[in-house]
Amino acid sequence: MLTFLPRWIDLTHPVYPGVPVFPGDPECTFTPHAELVQDGYRVTRLCCGTHLGTHLDAPSHFLPDGAPVDLIPLEHLCGPAVLLDLSHKGAPKSVIDASDLEPFADRLVPGARALIRTGWDVRFGTEAFFNDQPGFTPEACRWLAARRLRLLGLDVPSLHPALFAPTHVPLLQAGTVIVESLRLTPLCPYAAGPIAFFAAPLPLRGLDGSPVRAFAAVPGTYCEDEPAKPPAVHVEVVTSATQMLDALAIREAVFVDEQGVDWRLERDAADRTALHLLAYRHGEPAGTLRLLVRDAGEVAIGRFAVLRAHRGQGVGRALMEWVLIWARDTGVAKLTLHAQVHAAGFYRRFGFEVCGPQFIEAGILHVPMERDVND
Ligand code: COA
Repeated sequence: MLTFLPRWIDLTHPVYPGVPVFPGDPECTFTPHAELVQDGYRVTRLCCGTHLGTHLDAPSHFLPDGAPVDLIPLEHLCGPAVLLDLSHKGAPKSVIDASDLEPFADRLVPGARALIRTGWDVRFGTEAFFNDQPGFTPEACRWLAARRLRLLGLDVPSLHPALFAPTHVPLLQAGTVIVESLRLTPLCPYAAGPIAFFAAPLPLRGLDGSPVRAFAAVPGTYCEDEPAKPPAVHVEVVTSATQMLDALAIREAVFVDEQGVDWRLERDAADRTALHLLAYRHGEPAGTLRLLVRDAGEVAIGRFAVLRAHRGQGVGRALMEWVLIWARDTGVAKLTLHAQVHAAGFYRRFGFEVCGPQFIEAGILHVPMERDVND
């Protein structure tokens, strides 16, 4: 029986004294109130505005009779979300108009929770984060308001750097809760898959907003045993630089050192957009592969490699089973790959069939294979 263990991703910027705040907002300070040596315990006075860092705008932020933060239903704040990629609009002072959002219209259905990523979150902590942010035009906000979303999550500090009411009012009137200054970049590898989003404000009675802890659950690990007993082999989605280096080291050992592939061909631009998996055997990185979304419904498996010392121990199987379950869960229709001819038998075990003539790639004889996910 496969157990699914979600992976948790923190979407919150850090909170610390002196953290840059929206121009004109209260500074954030921490003042010791009780000290360990003197009092036997620690308590700190925290001073900050309601819109500090990653935060939520309640309807009462702009609407005279709008609901305060403590009355926002939790269903608005927690549940399935879609991640929209507007990274081409991530340049300083970019203007985001309704026409930029049109391509996502079919995903922005009433009641949806939408997270719009421009990539601006990487500038958090700099002056530019507030001064040069990309901004949504009032027209874009009216377009979004007409979608009647439950929640709109942004990686910019405000909908617009200067036009506050014309951008916030239509959305808040439409019942859309706004979460600003999210860290959305860590969610990139999961854009295609299911994302469960959570934003947890404090129930500050009657107030206009609150800093939030925002986080997401995404497809993480499938393992065969009880979660308490780590299985010999388990698979994780690569989310850290260390894991990426481990995955690349496996590929280098297998493809470059063992198979003689030119190292300049081994890494390519697709590595930046792929979803990478890392399999561990007894806690050690043992195998990897990458997944590339070709178009809606079709995903290519590539760079499938298991370290020689770990072969024949079920590492390849664990990776392939992870992919098959993930593909089924996320609505992928077809998986494709270029198999090295000696490994075609491995892929056949998992339902792949040859779908074209053999060819040479990176100096090695390959054969194209594919399988329909739902067969
Ligand atoms: N041909 C046919 N069957 C194979 C096979 C092969 N080359 N390699 C493994 N299998 C079978 C195993 O016998 C096992 O069968 P079983 O479940 O009936 O016991 C099953 O596939 C799963 O084997 P597993 O131990 O999980 O595979 P692995 O961890 O050794 O990984 C590869 C398989 C091909 C990924 C691995 O050998 C490898 O990385 N090779 C070098 C790099 C490479 O060629 N990658 C493929 C690029 S297209």
